[in-house]
Amino acid sequence: MISDNLQEAINEQIKYELYSAYMYLAMSADCSDRNLTGFATWLRMQAQEEVEHAMRFYDFLIERGGRVELHGIDKPPVEYGSPLEIMEQSLDHERFVTSRINGLYDLAFEEQDRPAQVMLQWFITEQVEEEASIDEIVQRMKMFGADGAALFMLDRDLGARGPEEDEE
Ligand code: FEO
Repeated sequence: MISDNLQEAINEQIKYELYSAYMYLAMSADCSDRNLTGFATWLRMQAQEEVEHAMRFYDFLIERGGRVELHGIDKPPVEYGSPLEIMEQSLDHERFVTSRINGLYDLAFEEQDRPAQVMLQWFITEQVEEEASIDEIVQRMKMFGADGAALFMLDRDLGARGPEEDEE
């Protein structure tokens, strides 16, 4: 059985993961609107991954005899600025999510909930990967600056993103 504290914190995290999906989907729509089809595809895949993250927490709560309680999700912005600004905001957002995951891990540690610690270790690794992959895109964009041909090529590369393999 999971503690009330941890249950509440995981329910809150389900909300943040679903908000992440909402935000990436809104960014994707913003890119589609500007014919950045590769960015739009990449962000849409990212949104899908966030739903999977939410469902990992959801399934974990159920497995542990907890109660899933869905919280209200905020409306994300409609417009996000330049492609570089979109990726910078994504990176900031992932850093925020990382800090939340770390907080959840600390709580699971304090409560001596070992299954929750193991489950959260997957997320700790996932956050390292998420931050690294977005940071790589940001660095590439900073390097090519206002070069339209390089942006076109990056858009093409991002459009090649397929569904991630499930690393269970
Ligand atoms: Fe679910 Fe991108 O963190």
